[in-house]
This record gives sequence, C-alpha cells and structure tokens, in this order.
Amino acid sequence: MRIAILASGNGSNFEVIAQAVKEKKIAAEIVLLFSDHHDAYVLERGKKFKIACESFELKEFPGKKQYETALLDLLKQYEVELVVLAGYMRIIGKDLLAAYPNRIINIHPALLPDFPGLHGIKDAYEAGVKETGVTIHYVDSGVDTGPIIAQKAVQIEKTDCLFDLETKIHQVEHQLYPQVLAKIVKNERS
Ligand code: GAR
Repeated sequence: MRIAILASGNGSNFEVIAQAVKEKKIAAEIVLLFSDHHDAYVLERGKKFKIACESFELKEFPGKKQYETALLDLLKQYEVELVVLAGYMRIIGKDLLAAYPNRIINIHPALLPDFPGLHGIKDAYEAGVKETGVTIHYVDSGVDTGPIIAQKAVQIEKTDCLFDLETKIHQVEHQLYPQVLAKIVKNERS
C-alpha cells in the first residue's frame, strides 16, 4: 500500500509511523511526506528516513481550490493509495475527499466528538474533565468528524499540569496510530 503522510508541524506521529514501516510492522511504503509549511520540523524527520518530501503553502496559490488541486496532483503523481494525516491542520476539501473516499485517516488528541479543532488537549484540560484521550477516524468534510476507527482514553489526574497531559496524550498517540494503521493496511490487503 502506497501511503502519503500530510503534516503541518513537529511530526512526532510521522516519526513513529515511519519507524513502524521501516521495521515492517506496517506492510506499506511511505511514498510521500507533504507539509503545508516549508519550515515544518517534520520535513527534517522525513529526510532522515529518506522519504520523498514535498511542501507548498496556501499563500502561494490564488485560493484554497488551487492549493487542493496541486495537492491532489501531487498525490496522483506519487500514486498514493492511502492518505494519513498526522498533525495536518487543514480541512480537507471536497475534491480530495472525492478522490480518496474512506482513504483519508486522521488522528485527533481528544475523545471525539468532544473537543474537536486545533487545541483538543488544552480545551479538554481547561474544561476540567476527568478523562480525555485519542481518536483515529476517517476524514469527512467536517472539522475532526467522520467515522471513528479507534479511541483510547487518558485520565486527567488532579495533579496533572497541561504539559503532563500533553505528554500522556502523545504517548498514547504514538502507540495507537502505528497499531491502527497496521490493521487497516492488513485488512485492505486480505
Ligand atoms: C497531534 O497531537 C495530533 O493529534 C494533533 O496534532 C498533533 C501533531 O503532533 N492533530 C490535531 O489536533 C488535528 N485536529 P506531531 O506533529 O508531533 O505528530
């Protein structure tokens, strides 16, 4: 299975997925790493794994439609079969969704449908809930909506500061995302 990973920033989730692919825990090839920021740290991680890295920014195009067309062309050029979002902080447009029905997967740092959006961890922390977590889901036209594939809860202890919670959430993400992707790829192939 030919996978593209789309990421906007740090790329710790990209790194654990790339490592799992390298160790053949996921029966797939990461054929492309794309970022919508030229200076995203994830691109450094991509080079380390010798994965093809591409980036362009929305502001380089007349509008979102042209940006998405260029992204779709890129995915086609690399013959991508599955698109994995790993901290890609943009809504996926309708042309991309139509080209990859049930073929775009996202990870979100909260128990959806609670706390969607850009600040899932902070929003849960500030709401004072006792439990939050991680969700992996298929992408649809909404913000962090779409059919849920897997969820794992994380307890928020009274003594946790925001950084503690972030650390716990990322630990769960780094376990869950490679596991779930391995299963998805295996099911697709059988
Ligand atoms: C992750 O926590 C991911 O769940 C989140 O961005 C972070 C990226 O971290 N995604 C969203 O909030 C999507 N709405 P990373 O760049 O270190 O993988």
